[in-house]
Amino acid sequence: MKKVREKNEYEGNPVGLSKETATAMAKELDRHLASFIVLYHQYHKHHWLVEGPQFRDLHLFFEEHYNEIHAQYDAIAERLTVMGYCPTCHPANQLKIAYLEHEEEGEFRIREMLNKDMDDEKTIAVELRKSIKKAFDLEDFATKALLEGILLKTEDRCHHIEHFLGEDSLSIGLIALPGDIIEDGEVAESKAKAKRKAKA
Ligand SMILES: [Fe+2]
Repeated sequence: MKKVREKNEYEGNPVGLSKETATAMAKELDRHLASFIVLYHQYHKHHWLVEGPQFRDLHLFFEEHYNEIHAQYDAIAERLTVMGYCPTCHPANQLKIAYLEHEEEGEFRIREMLNKDMDDEKTIAVELRKSIKKAFDLEDFATKALLEGILLKTEDRCHHIEHFLGEDSLSIGLIALPGDIIEDGEVAESKAKAKRKAKA
């Protein structure tokens, strides 16, 4: 196959953005694209692995998140092409520029998985704010507007995860305490059993 354009070759843009602005903002957008794809995979993993009494709620919650993130990174990649640049598309190259790390393989407790999702959403929010500031300084107002919309949704996702991690419950009889839940393995299990026995 004959390549018609190299990855980092600037094509120009029809919207009147200078090469300097387009180059600077394309770099920002590419980092976000790569990072959103990491989180997209992570939400899929959590959607597949979640178990327990809230299985259905969480299963669908993760699905909503990966669908929303998919729509967002699609918009980011398309904006990149408007600027006259080619998005980073190869997964190995995306990993090199992403500011999020993939969760290790294997299953974790659901609260740990949610905590990782919340931390990653927070990191995205922090990085988006930096790019929004840069877009404003460079007078790239459309990218600024795009990223502001994405930031608002990112903060919502973060906030909703925090609610799932809340400790309050209307359920009577589920007496495991937060300490029991976040601890690992049999120790936590036997502690919870002992508490249940003592209360019986
Ligand atoms: Fe599914």
